[in-house]
Amino acid sequence: MERKKVLGAVAIAVLITAPLSYYLVAKFIATGSPCEPANYDIQLPGTFRDASQVPIGVAVDADLLKDDPEYAGVVSKYFNSLTPENAMKMGPLRPSRDEYYWTDADFIVDFAEQANASVHGHCLVWHQQLPSWVSSFSGTRDDWVALLKEHVQAVVGHYKGRVASWDVVNEAIEPGGYRDTIWYEHIGPEYLEYAFTWAHEADPAATLYYNDYDLLGDLDKLDEVLGVLNGCVARGAPIDGVGLQAHVTSEWPSNGTISDAISKIGQYGFKVRVSELDVAVNPSGGSGCFTQALAEAQEARYGELGELFLKIPRLTGISVWGVDDGHTWLVGFKGHPDWPLLFDGNYAPKPAARGFYAALA
Ligand code: G3I
Repeated sequence: MERKKVLGAVAIAVLITAPLSYYLVAKFIATGSPCEPANYDIQLPGTFRDASQVPIGVAVDADLLKDDPEYAGVVSKYFNSLTPENAMKMGPLRPSRDEYYWTDADFIVDFAEQANASVHGHCLVWHQQLPSWVSSFSGTRDDWVALLKEHVQAVVGHYKGRVASWDVVNEAIEPGGYRDTIWYEHIGPEYLEYAFTWAHEADPAATLYYNDYDLLGDLDKLDEVLGVLNGCVARGAPIDGVGLQAHVTSEWPSNGTISDAISKIGQYGFKVRVSELDVAVNPSGGSGCFTQALAEAQEARYGELGELFLKIPRLTGISVWGVDDGHTWLVGFKGHPDWPLLFDGNYAPKPAARGFYAALA
């Protein structure tokens, strides 16, 4: 009898704890927990700005520049081109049609000038981060043209001589033609050319770029973009260059595809910026922490990308999309952890920084 009681008790215990056991095992398999974080102590031999033949830039946030001395110190030490991550977009700049909020963007431009760094303005015309008064605007095509012209010329005019280059139009083209955005809908495809013309009129010295994502990995999209831009230039639009955002992973796109993209771009006369580089190492969210293996793969990738990018004809700069892993857009966008940048959340250089520096130097 005793044996039966014991077996019965064990059976009940197993049944009760089975779900928890299953969960723990599954979690361990899925996330590799407990997760062993990478262990590194990187001393870079120099800075990216000093090592590189072309400006090495970073997207920055005004509040962090103001309030976080370590963040600001990394920016001014390592980089010589600053891109406002959000401060120059229409929404942050234009709370209402008659009101411009220059404070944050002005702070970034002032900071750059004091750090002997250039400024790349981002972005004059986009379909995201629009102020509500634009999203709800109602008018004729001429009214929309007037609205957009007023915006482009006011912003470029405000920074004339202080912002060296602009992402004039962002993410307006997809395989098959123009993306169906609010600007395309109310003005037609001409808005792209108009925006470049207006920007050039407002600051003839500024270098003007069209900026888009996946151009190094989606060669159909790249063909479409280059074809549309070439047509615009043939009609007289002052488009100087193409911005390749380069939001990539440790694996995608392959180096071969990137080389093919670079060859395609080289057949045109555009200047080229790598405008928003980051290297996601946890695209599917499977890792709970930044492991040694992820760090080593990212170091190799940043090194390979640096070498590939420096081969781009008429390359005018490489900018990473954020200072540190503690402030990357990617985590909010993807909803899970990732560590895509050159500095970690404590502003320490990662192995990625060592790989990138080695390619630049
Ligand atoms: O400033 C407001 C704040 O007042 C509010 O409390 C908070 C919560 O709603 O939102 C804050 O605004 C956020 C803004 O970033 C500043 O942090 C927006 O919600 C958020 O959508 C915005 O995300 C930006 C995203 O563009 C918007 O699409 C990212 O920071 C920025 O890195 C990202 O950058 C884009 C490039 O401009 C174009 N290429 C793709 C790239 C990644 O999406």
